[in-house]
Amino acid sequence: MAESNNNVANVSGNAADRAVVKAWLDRVPSRVRPDETAEKQDVARIKQLLKLRNAVLVAHYYTDAKLQVLAEETGGLVADSLEMARFGTTTTATTLVVAGVRFMGETAKILNPEKTVLMPTLEATCSLDIGCPAEEFSRFCAKFPDHEVVVYANTSVAVKALADWVVTSAIAVPLVEHLLAQGKQVIWAPDKHLGRYLQRQLGAERIVLWDGACIVHEEFKARALLDMKHLHPDAAVLAHPESPLSVLELADVVGSTSQIIRAAQQRHEQKFIVATDHGIFYKLQQQAPNKEFFMAPTSGEGATCRSCAQCPWMGMNTLSRLRLTLEHGDNEIEVSPALGARALIPLQRMLDFRSQR
Ligand code: 13P
Ligand code: SF4
Repeated sequence: MAESNNNVANVSGNAADRAVVKAWLDRVPSRVRPDETAEKQDVARIKQLLKLRNAVLVAHYYTDAKLQVLAEETGGLVADSLEMARFGTTTTATTLVVAGVRFMGETAKILNPEKTVLMPTLEATCSLDIGCPAEEFSRFCAKFPDHEVVVYANTSVAVKALADWVVTSAIAVPLVEHLLAQGKQVIWAPDKHLGRYLQRQLGAERIVLWDGACIVHEEFKARALLDMKHLHPDAAVLAHPESPLSVLELADVVGSTSQIIRAAQQRHEQKFIVATDHGIFYKLQQQAPNKEFFMAPTSGEGATCRSCAQCPWMGMNTLSRLRLTLEHGDNEIEVSPALGARALIPLQRMLDFRSQR
């Protein structure tokens, strides 16, 4: 496992990870045309069942707009992964229904072990989680025994249990900056693009990176984005930090999903090119209705995109799956109490750090 000059440790699994991710993608069902009558019935039934179960719906910005609307209409939350984690600890509902990907449900369960946590599907994973197996990561950490281990929330419970800190994209920069200011050295995992961004912002010497990536954000293309900027010279570029550094270098704002939405509301520009999952357009248009949004390009000349700015796992959250989950109480997230208690330590540190800011 050699280190290259930009301080990315080469984990042997990169090609293997791609094969694993591909095998997952092959299992994701293709989108079918919605049946509007059935959807209306699902929405009505879900509203009833949420009340009956004293449940609240917590949805990520990348989920289908219909789920985001439902969360808003029923007193739930639509948010980024940091606020989704915080919300569960503040609501009196005894069941949290998490529409997103698996690590979001697991985070909710670790923080609220006494609550029932359900998800529309347990199959919705994340390429960052898949690309960072706990045993391999543990061996990697053992090579840098004097480093603080900082992991992104997009990881398994077992990987969180190995960490000193968990962070989300909303606080990755200030938290790592805080650690470096204390003279610490940092292992950052799993997203190498966000890791490279941290290195560029804060200095590369004391940050070692794991070699993982988000299959959705990795596809944004800098060259095609530059062409698009020329077509829309008055547009600001808003990018999620899981995008490649070459894309982030062209951005006016680099931030988490909630920071992207805030920037669209607050900035003076009327047009925005957005480098993140397409699901965010629902909230962007709701919060900044008079502004214009364009998807950043995912395919350069001659290239093809696989995810095309739509996370296949977020897309597995559907109204019918949500209804079935609430009807049968299945797809419950379970976390081993011992592992959950260990993973709670770095998660709680993240929330404490967040509340001090
Ligand atoms: P946020 O924390 O910005 O919501 O990002 C979560 C995620 O999975 C991005 O791909
Ligand atoms: Fe994971 Fe990327 Fe999907 Fe976010 S968009 S859940 S990082 S695969």
